Amino acid sequence: MDKLSILPNGPLEGRIPISGAKNSALKLMAASLLCEQPLVLTSMPNLADTRFMAKLLQNLGVVVEWPTGEALCRMDAANITSTIAPYDLVRKMRATFNVLGPLLARVGHATVSLPGGCAIGARPVDLHLKAFEAMGADIVIEEGYVKAAALRGLKGAHINFPFVSVGATEHAMLAAVLADGETTLENAACEPEIGDLAICLNSCGAKITGYGTPTIHIQGVARLSGTRHDVIADRIEAGTFAIAAAATGGNVFLDGARAEDLGALIDALRKAGVTVEVEPKGLRIKRNGGGLVAVDIDTRPHPGFPTDLQAQFMALMTIAEGTSTIRENIFENRFMHAPELSRLGANIIVRGNEAIVKGVPKLKGAPVMATDLRASVSLVIAALVAEGETTVNRIYHLDRGFERLEEKLGRCGAKITRQGDSA
Ligand code: EPZ
Repeated sequence: MDKLSILPNGPLEGRIPISGAKNSALKLMAASLLCEQPLVLTSMPNLADTRFMAKLLQNLGVVVEWPTGEALCRMDAANITSTIAPYDLVRKMRATFNVLGPLLARVGHATVSLPGGCAIGARPVDLHLKAFEAMGADIVIEEGYVKAAALRGLKGAHINFPFVSVGATEHAMLAAVLADGETTLENAACEPEIGDLAICLNSCGAKITGYGTPTIHIQGVARLSGTRHDVIADRIEAGTFAIAAAATGGNVFLDGARAEDLGALIDALRKAGVTVEVEPKGLRIKRNGGGLVAVDIDTRPHPGFPTDLQAQFMALMTIAEGTSTIRENIFENRFMHAPELSRLGANIIVRGNEAIVKGVPKLKGAPVMATDLRASVSLVIAALVAEGETTVNRIYHLDRGFERLEEKLGRCGAKITRQGDSA
């Protein structure tokens, strides 16, 4: 199994290009199932997860043209040949569950495996299913599969989510665009990826307004054409590199990063003593010699501090002066990186959904284990500043969500080498 060997090499200096957002690309790919003409996505991130989604779409009859390493992906769903997403294709990557809504809306029925829990929490899909039921779908769960049917089509509905869910908001939107009549989503998620999906769907002929706010209106249309759409920049990738630059005390320009999507992180970095300059084409992160001070964070739905940057920020706080309290409010089990960071010498006490991080003057390299995507990259950040060698094992998690991580960091001076089968 591949692992990364990381040695400290001083401050990161240079420019890092930000890729298209994984979590947007996956939903945009699911949206291709709604389109009668080809959907062409540019700035597509080449990741294990997006390639996996392409495989599932091909299984359903979508003609996918996406040469290895290319950032342009063309998906033609003129002929959907299957409406079944089997266990093996959904179990490995939860976002594949998002084909259910588009298949239901376009074909009238679908059978999709329940995704099951994962390392960071139980992650049920009850809100997704309630939204489809509100739109008139009949849903049964049998032998681990969701069997959904709306043979006379979905109907517009008023859906008030009991709490904010990114996935349920996107999924309901994906189904409602072809429903008969108007759908209103209340207490909808406001994440930038939702806006990206709405903009792409509107460009295919959908009628969605209010995205980016908690109330989204969708006027159903009979059919969607295709379009060409540029995937929004990955705010989590940008935030991760911002934190890496801050940790090493470097000076890095994040090319393509969007300040408007990263407000909570930028505030926290500035409070911690990091200089963040907003430039027309990206963000510059600097910490020229100054120390880091502890900052408390609470993860919240957008525009709050993103749960997907919690692990990385914890890594930064391990070397800040003072004590930081980090509260995880989105997922019930998202502190698996804490014991691994402690192996590097961090001082962290976890109590329920709270981690108390007492800054230490130095971390020390050690073998550590990646447990999920964002946890893995937090270990990479800690390793960049730890004395001696750190080996990060089980890095297939990183390959799911970070495009060319070693190359991007390596060009800014990091000493990272991949060892193992595909090294
Ligand atoms: C998306 O997951 C992202 N995944 C996650 O990124 C991200 O952490 C999360 O949103 C929050 O921002 C993708 O976009 C592919 P939710 P999602 O529905 O949609 C509970 C990463 O590292 N819930 O907003 O699954 C749920 O268990 C990943 O890239 C229900 O109870 O998140 C969680 O506690 C990890 N019932 C909370 O809501 C439901 O039907 C928020 O989850 C749906 C969700």
